[in-house]
Amino acid sequence: MASFCSEKTIMSKIVFLLVACLSISSAASQSVPPPKLSTFASQYTVSWSTDHVLVAADGSVQLTMDQVSGSGYASKDMYTFGYVSTQIKLVGGNSAGTVTAYYLSSDMSSPYHDELDFEFLGNTTGQPYILQTNVFANGVGAREQRLYLWFDPTADFHTYSVLWNKEIIIFAVDQRPIRIFKNNVNLGVDYPNFKPMGIYSSLWNGEEWATRGGLDKIDWTGAPFVASYKAFNIEACENTNGAGNCANAVAWWSGAAYQSLDATSLNELNYVKRTYMIYDYCTDTERYPQAPPECATN
Ligand SMILES: *[C@@H]1O[C@H](CO)[C@@H](O)[C@H](O)[C@H]1NC(C)=O
Repeated sequence: MASFCSEKTIMSKIVFLLVACLSISSAASQSVPPPKLSTFASQYTVSWSTDHVLVAADGSVQLTMDQVSGSGYASKDMYTFGYVSTQIKLVGGNSAGTVTAYYLSSDMSSPYHDELDFEFLGNTTGQPYILQTNVFANGVGAREQRLYLWFDPTADFHTYSVLWNKEIIIFAVDQRPIRIFKNNVNLGVDYPNFKPMGIYSSLWNGEEWATRGGLDKIDWTGAPFVASYKAFNIEACENTNGAGNCANAVAWWSGAAYQSLDATSLNELNYVKRTYMIYDYCTDTERYPQAPPECATN
């Protein structure tokens, strides 16, 4: 009797694990076409500290940071609407105080700039990274969301992507949507809908705020810190000088199938939010006694 019971317990654990694993590995039905990979050098340049950026023989790129400097890269061109992805393996070990950013931004010197951010906030050894996302439209940001990832982002490469068209912006991790920002111009909310954006990444010192709100500082004995990148993919409407007719361009990322999340992807987004989200500006009533208007639709 006792052995039957313990067997049953083990079986139910196995079933539970199977179900849990299946629900995490099922790809979104709204999948995107396979990436059109290109070399780092054809699409990007080093924008900060050449001697801290290493382009390896296999085409992967390492951003490094030590006490002298962090580092970064930027796309050569700018784009309006598209699909952008790369694979990143984040700083391992004690990465407290380090911030790895991967983002799209229009001209940052303008107070009316648009920006779509992934920011990975490092942590002490064994403690979870935070993935913070933010959306700026016409200079208005302060739309942070934060989540823990469902894997260790320092153990291997994972794909981080942004799909951007005139109706919706979809942030995804390994094709799983983690955030959307819809065009809510009709609610009086600005939307990034024409300014060309470049694609950027950087590794920098954020110890004043990044890890446990700034309590954990950078431990420089672990330097240099390294974030690795590969599988560079930009499929987007080039608009470097702002003269491109990207609003009317015919492209898969602007097609009807990608102007909203389908039911499966919406379920996935809701699952991720329920399970992994630790902060959402939409529910921060101290900051926003009345939730910003876009919150009801995103
Ligand atoms: C770091 O780990 C602590 C303790 O587990 C956690 O509270 C915090 O959210 C983690 N992430 C960051 C970036 O502070």
